Amino acid sequence: MSNLLHKLLLLGQAATALFSHWKALTEIQQQNLSSQVAAIDVPTFQLQQECLQNNQKLEKEFFPPQKYAFSGSEEDYKAGIKAIGAGKVACLILAGGQGTRLGWSGPKGTFPISLIKQKSLFQLICEKTKAAGKCVQKDLSLAFMTSPDNHSDTLQFFQDNDFFGLAKEQISFFSQEMLPLLDTQGNLFLEEVDSLAFGPDGNGFALHLLVKTGLLRKWQDQGVEIINVILIDNPLADPFDAELIGFHIRQQVDLTLKSILRIDPHESVGVVVQNDNNLAVVEYSEILLEEREAVLADGSLKYPLANLSLFCINLSKIQSLVHQHPIMPLHRAFKSVKGWNEIEGSEKKMAWKFEKFIFDILPWISKEALLVYPREACFSPLKNSEGAFSSKTVQADLQSLDRQIIRSLTGLEPPNVPFELSQEFYYLTPAIREKWKGRSLPNLGGYIEV
Ligand code: UD1
Repeated sequence: MSNLLHKLLLLGQAATALFSHWKALTEIQQQNLSSQVAAIDVPTFQLQQECLQNNQKLEKEFFPPQKYAFSGSEEDYKAGIKAIGAGKVACLILAGGQGTRLGWSGPKGTFPISLIKQKSLFQLICEKTKAAGKCVQKDLSLAFMTSPDNHSDTLQFFQDNDFFGLAKEQISFFSQEMLPLLDTQGNLFLEEVDSLAFGPDGNGFALHLLVKTGLLRKWQDQGVEIINVILIDNPLADPFDAELIGFHIRQQVDLTLKSILRIDPHESVGVVVQNDNNLAVVEYSEILLEEREAVLADGSLKYPLANLSLFCINLSKIQSLVHQHPIMPLHRAFKSVKGWNEIEGSEKKMAWKFEKFIFDILPWISKEALLVYPREACFSPLKNSEGAFSSKTVQADLQSLDRQIIRSLTGLEPPNVPFELSQEFYYLTPAIREKWKGRSLPNLGGYIEV
């Protein structure tokens, strides 16, 4: 029996509608469609069906995290600098999202965000990596997870910009996978006359792919021991966060989650919880309203901590985790997507999209720690075209952090004009500190280099 026929038998009813116009297709179109159907992973497809039945009900009881520390330790910072300088840390950036809410057509990382120079999110991360490397005198490695939708555009952007001053060998790219979308009946459907409707499968498979692509092994051979994971859409995320790394090492844990205090119960952020002895996150799209809004007797939020999907994890733990848990749970979302039908051709329709979430590894790890940072130091995501978490709020946050850096470096209040600091100000060397002590900024604002 051909591979396609066998697959069709396994997919059953869910695939029948795909072939209603088969005879009208050219030979190439028939090949396209049949190879896509033949490539569907049946166990994952069954998980998708289960996910539709169960609506990801939280089986376990959860409660607020019992133990967490606040950032601010000079000792941890110094230990982290030492580990980064010894080449023990690499950074993984999750950049496979579609950025639909932002309304930006290219990869989100290409969005120009900085205040004066209009540097893109990608550029800021690369310049941070370069500056961190300068600070510890070591070339640092980073990898971007893209998706089939934005992989080639991302690579092109880096090539066009000469990898933003990093050596090509410092940067790796790999693409996440896609999952078929399902219609309201749980059936597969077409997006084009000869192709299935697919969507990116979420950010949750990133560590598995790090192993699968061989990159983890390459980094291990280079002496990397800890991977710092960050999201592309948060320009305050630090690819080489020395304090986080130092704290993580001191705690002797496998994973340290970076967090901030929740301020608004309705903010679109996952909520950090604990079930049994392990940490977990309940996503904002799935948490019950009464839990999201729950307060203690003193009026403070019962679940005080927000998930930023920023964490560091031991490379050795990734290996065992991926081995023990080859499959990640799925989460579903009902979205408006593009479809195709024989009568009208292209159509808009509502369908189920399935995603894996990176924080679903948390319940599988018992040696974990939680470090809480001031919000203004690490969180200002770019999600929407206007309102909260838009370029306007992000630029305002970048400006106030730059002002704070100048204030603490010079001991002086900066002039009230817009300015942007080069990323080297985020990784201070003794020479930079010495140079800027007591020095006032030019009154004109603009771009300030060390
Ligand atoms: C994410 C977190 C949420 C957190 C919030 C903070 C997850 C699953 N959720 O939510 O708990 O409070 O950020 O800003 O992490 N991405 C991929 N592939 C995909 C989808 C997304 O790599 O298929 C990447 C995006 O490029 C982005 C990040 O993951 O860097 C977050 O994606 P997004 O869908 O915007 O997450 P949020 O819903 O904002």
